[in-house]
Amino acid sequence: MKQLIKLRVNGEDYEAYVPVHKTLLEVLREDLNLTGTKHGCELGECGACTVLVDGEPTLSCLTLPIEIQGREILTVEGLAHNGTPHPLQTAFAELSAAQCGYCTPGMLISAKALLDHDPHPARDDIRQALSGNLCRCTGYSKIIEAVELAAERR
Ligand code: FES
Ligand code: FES
Repeated sequence: MKQLIKLRVNGEDYEAYVPVHKTLLEVLREDLNLTGTKHGCELGECGACTVLVDGEPTLSCLTLPIEIQGREILTVEGLAHNGTPHPLQTAFAELSAAQCGYCTPGMLISAKALLDHDPHPARDDIRQALSGNLCRCTGYSKIIEAVELAAERR
């Protein structure tokens, strides 16, 4: 059975007819063409699918769109402002904090939520904020340094 859902993503309103069981991750990627949010484990364990819902990190693979109609969703596509990358994106690029890049959208989103709540987090706070985001490539040091660099510049 399909239903009409209305979502607000990155400041824009979207409507789609989707099967009731379709996850937010699937709707973002397959119906709204917002493919920056990544499919990972789809079990709530890797963080690759993280988006913000009303500013809070949320695993889109475990979220049904109907649960969050009318709330503000932010995906990695919404991080840049008027064509200017978010300071986190710049810092990740400068410090080579992304290698294959598969985890990067989720990392950026979790890091943004942290900096929005705490503009100058301690290193342990960064580790804690990113603890739900798994990376197979970087060893995490560059990622943490990039978040620190972005925090310094904000
Ligand atoms: S794809 Fe959602 S947590 Fe892994
Ligand atoms: S950069 Fe490859 S998984 Fe993190």
